[in-house]
Amino acid sequence: MNHLIAPSILAADFANLQRDIELINKSDADWIHVDIMDGMFVPNISFGFPVVSAVNKHATKPLDVHLMIVDPDRYLKNFKDAGAAGMTVHIEACPNLHRTVQYIKELGCRAAVALNPHTPVALLEDIISSLDMVLIMSVNPGFGGQKFIENTYKKLRDIKALARRYNPELYIEVDGGVDSSNAEKLVEAGANVLVAGNSVFSAPDPTVAIANLKNLGSA
Ligand code: DX5
Ligand code: ZN
Repeated sequence: MNHLIAPSILAADFANLQRDIELINKSDADWIHVDIMDGMFVPNISFGFPVVSAVNKHATKPLDVHLMIVDPDRYLKNFKDAGAAGMTVHIEACPNLHRTVQYIKELGCRAAVALNPHTPVALLEDIISSLDMVLIMSVNPGFGGQKFIENTYKKLRDIKALARRYNPELYIEVDGGVDSSNAEKLVEAGANVLVAGNSVFSAPDPTVAIANLKNLGSA
């Protein structure tokens, strides 16, 4: 599978969101990564349903909604209605993860589970065959622009090995500190979806930054 690129609009200009969505629409990006933070699961607040709906009105690519919130079951239907194509919940926020995953699927969305940097991949062994995607966090969630954690490569290799055994079609997404210096190594380690916030939107030309992440090796 060729890897996918999901620019994170957390690093976009919120006062020019339509412009930045249109930039992503015209780029080599595959999905639009939408970070939801509740000030409880993570020490930061981003934005909620009205903003996701507004983004969806202009987006021509699927919204990949990353829920960094406690007890996400409360809001899955709202995010579906706001335009989510896929929803990612954190294993650390879901005591009844299997039920949450089934609920996401019943809503007709791609179901994904995220792991914080300290959470071992082995915890997914008994649910991985029900998942569409696993998100390996390569920073502690809550903020854009943080330093990439090197142990991520090992976790990607571990999840890739589990996926080979139980779910070969699994999307393996990596999120946090992804840029042109580590993208190729991340794909080699097993990632097939790269999220990038600051390395895209702080670049002199975000469209070129997206293309470089997509066309690794040929840049
Ligand atoms: C962090 C978010 C990320 C963030 C990535 O909690 O989940 O999606 O936007 O930003 P960068 O690429 O700047 O690390
Ligand atoms: Zn994210």
